Amino acid sequence: MKRLLQALGGDAVWPPPIWLMRQAGRYLPEYRQLRAETPDFVSFCLDPKRAADATLQPIRRFGMDGAILFSDILILPWALGRDLTFTEGHGPRLTPLRAVDEVLALDKSRFLDRVAPVLETIGLIRSELAQKHPETALIGFVGAPFTVACYMIEGGGSKEFAETRRMAAASPGTFDQLIAVLTETSIDYLSAQIAAGAEAVMLFDSWAGLLSPTGFERHVIGPAARIAAAIGQRHPGVPMIGFPRLAGTMIAAYAEQAGVGTVGMDTAADPRVVRRLVPEATGLQGNLDPFALLQGGEVMEREARAILDAMNNRPFVFNLGHGVMPPTPPAHVAALVDLVRGR
Ligand code: CP3
Repeated sequence: MKRLLQALGGDAVWPPPIWLMRQAGRYLPEYRQLRAETPDFVSFCLDPKRAADATLQPIRRFGMDGAILFSDILILPWALGRDLTFTEGHGPRLTPLRAVDEVLALDKSRFLDRVAPVLETIGLIRSELAQKHPETALIGFVGAPFTVACYMIEGGGSKEFAETRRMAAASPGTFDQLIAVLTETSIDYLSAQIAAGAEAVMLFDSWAGLLSPTGFERHVIGPAARIAAAIGQRHPGVPMIGFPRLAGTMIAAYAEQAGVGTVGMDTAADPRVVRRLVPEATGLQGNLDPFALLQGGEVMEREARAILDAMNNRPFVFNLGHGVMPPTPPAHVAALVDLVRGR
């Protein structure tokens, strides 16, 4: 069995498998070249040949244990009929969603047709992996409902997501309906990704840490538990990773109740503490500081070894605490892979 799938299945594989969030991206010259051919980012994500190529670039270079589908968490709202553009330097822009009619108007009946190119991408990736990188497993993903709702309501990125949190408090009916639509469609989207060839799936909840404990239980743990239960029923044995970024002490409740087999630790989490907080059976993933990777050398080595020491003899997947930063030298990534593999 592929080492990543073994670890996600609950085995303490050592040395641990490694892949990195945002391992495909602007720090790779070959990515910048490919990306320049399609200035519109949504079109790039929906171009199966190019998206498959972007997914495979870090695998060809570093031979990671996991390939993550090249796409974006905001393709789901786009497929549900929301306008989406990415502008250089500003990140994503969506038409802000503020009213219950806009939730009711989300096009649940056709969204799977609109993501057909993504499913085709998955097939292309799997065939190249089978031919050239038989040890690498393909990870599919969605944004978790709360984080996707943050971008949909706010209309883009934000530090505070004030409108989102205001809606959750002031119009809980509307907010809950939006979360429910995102939960249901995420289940169908992940299920379609698995049917197309994804071997594991991940839920990215980048803004989970904005919520109070009660909000976290309701909008982070609740939807994750519904998604994990449905995927477990439809696709027994396909592992799921949940990444409730900046969850703090709520990582314990998430590990116990969300029903995902593996929990991603963010940069701020202390792996020695998390190890004690979560049940033995829960796998962990993470959490090298992306700035340590950017720095490389002794800083990176020291930080990486501390994580490896803390995770020894436990089901674990080495990763970053958040995505690779664009100025990161690719040689640092190669050195990290060697270090984790003990070479
Ligand atoms: O290598 C991979 O990780 C695979 C693909 C992937 C991307 N985005 C590609 C991407 C994945 C898994 C994501 C997830 C994603 N997208 C998240 C969750 C993880 C996180 O980072 O917290 C979020 C919040 C988004 C939304 C998003 N997409 C933002 C805020 C931005 C702009 C910021 C930026 O880095 O430009 C994007 C754009 C984006 N998604 C890029 C990539 C490679 C950069 C766009 C480009 O190439 O011009």
